[in-house]
This record gives sequence, C-alpha cells and structure tokens, in this order.
Amino acid sequence: MSTLTFGIIKPDAVRAGKYGAIIQRIVDNGFNIRGMKLIHMSKKEAEGFYAVHAERPFFGELTEFMSGEPCVVLCLEKENAVKAWRDLMGATNPAEAAEGTLRKEFATSIGENAVHGSDSEENAVIEISYFFSKLELV
Ligand code: CMP
Repeated sequence: MSTLTFGIIKPDAVRAGKYGAIIQRIVDNGFNIRGMKLIHMSKKEAEGFYAVHAERPFFGELTEFMSGEPCVVLCLEKENAVKAWRDLMGATNPAEAAEGTLRKEFATSIGENAVHGSDSEENAVIEISYFFSKLELV
C-alpha cells in the first residue's frame, strides 16, 4: 500500500546547489512528490519541529543550522514510504552511509547531513502537517 512520508533537503544541500540532483534521485527512485516548497524556517519553527531533541546537546547547533538558510520540504508517497525514504537517505552519519545513498553522496557531517526523513508513519503525519496545509498537497 502506498503511504506518505516527510522529507527535508537541508540547508547544506540547498546552499551547495544539490537540491535539483536530490529531487531527480527522488523521482528516479519511484517516489510520487505530493508536496514540495522552498522555505526559510525561523529559529522558533526549527525548535518546534525538532522539539523531541530539545534535551540533546546538539539541539542549539541543529536549530541554528536548520533556520540559518532555506531548505526544501517534501511530502513523498511510495509503497512503504517511511522505510523507502530512509533507505535512500542512508545512515544519519555520512561516515556510516552506504554507497549509493544520498547522505553518502551529498552529506558532509552528522549535523550537516543533506536530508531529513520521518522515522515512523505517525511522525510522518505530524511532520507533514507541521509544514503543509491541505491545499499545498496534491
Ligand atoms: P535528522 O534526521 O534531521 O534528525 C535529527 C538531526 O540531529 C539529525 O538528522 C542530525 O542531523 C542531527 N544530529 C544527530 N546527532 C548529532 C550530533 N551528534 N551532532 C550534531 N547534530 C546531530
């Protein structure tokens, strides 16, 4: 069954001009793009999005980075979309990311790791609705 997930092309990949290449990879891998926009999050919006990580030592760095420059937010549809998108992204730490994954190719560090993806279907629903209104999804 087709399901939805949420993705971000993070500021490092947008700054490096890699968002076109990443979107092409998404399309080539059979995802149906149901929503997509370029946004520039405020610090507060980034803190709200990453609230589950509020107690982590890297929270300040993470939210500064995510609100520092524009990023591309995505609603992606595919069979088993959460896992399929995580598989295409690769491991959080690019040093551990498998050959052929987006993070292997485009990420530079664990903090600046090119892409984000939801970790469960429940979180996908929450994350999609954090950034997209119903009218913005096709
Ligand atoms: P993401 O999937 O966007 O969800 C949380 C993010 O925190 C994660 O990707 C990483 O980019 C970031 N992160 C995880 N661990 C660290 C770390 N040790 N230092 C900096 N950022 C981290």
